[in-house]
Amino acid sequence: GEVALVTGAASGIGRAIAAELRRAGAAVVAVDRDPRVRDEDAVDRVGVVGDVSDPEVMRRAAEAAVRGFGGLDVLVAAAGVFPEPTPIARLDPAGWDRGLRVNTTAVAHALTAAHPALVQAPRGGRVVLVSSKNVAAPGPGAAAYSASKSAAAQLARVAALEWAPDGIRVNLVEPDAVFDTGIWTPELLAERAAQYGMSVQEYKTRNLLGVEVSSTQVAEAVRVLVDGGLTATTGAHLTVDGGNDRVV
Ligand code: NAI
Repeated sequence: GEVALVTGAASGIGRAIAAELRRAGAAVVAVDRDPRVRDEDAVDRVGVVGDVSDPEVMRRAAEAAVRGFGGLDVLVAAAGVFPEPTPIARLDPAGWDRGLRVNTTAVAHALTAAHPALVQAPRGGRVVLVSSKNVAAPGPGAAAYSASKSAAAQLARVAALEWAPDGIRVNLVEPDAVFDTGIWTPELLAERAAQYGMSVQEYKTRNLLGVEVSSTQVAEAVRVLVDGGLTATTGAHLTVDGGNDRVV
């Protein structure tokens, strides 16, 4: 089987991705600052506890893949934070720094740490960045989130250019809101629904398909991007949003 490194794998979308890739037969190195990332360890899974914005942590994680499972085929960067929303006129410097550090800098370190092993992947390395619909459609109060996720998306596109000669494909998934995650507290959800004059249920399903998009559905999109098909696809953005382009 193949070997995947997944960041942010203790919760939400990252956790669903780690589970989906294991179901598809991959061994997984799961990285998170939350020690619960170790709870599901098994012969095909190892948890690495640490801060993804520390290059040393990412180096250790890549090493765990090579030492423990014989190489690295897939990197999925899913760790992320949604800093407390604040308007630019009253920007919170700590939230700004945290957003940039986790959502941008840590992605750069993950790419750098994974590259030497990805180059060796027999079927060509594959990278997926969990980006956000917010990059194309930023919201008020989300300056730190929008700026940091946009910068990461640019990093991924540069990696797609630089690593094409190495046979490494780099793609992005762009979920809109995914509510079965740590980012969406009940308070944030109630506040957003009220902002649009909707009930919570209306707000959650405000897309063309009328579905509440789940972490598992995002994980399915990631699996399709890394499972060995789509061999002519790199630098692409795959939206996972119930088709909400024409809705709020
Ligand atoms: P989550 O809060 O459930 O999961 C994020 C995980 O990242 C947590 O386990 C957390 O401990 C980990 N993490 C955060 N900072 C870290 C650090 N410095 N070092 C190590 N681990 C760290 O939230 P969710 O929603 O599953 O987030 C996953 C990704 O999905 C993020 O990149 C987020 O920007 C993206 N996303 C989320 C959307 C949503 O509506 N939930 C929509 C679009 C994108």
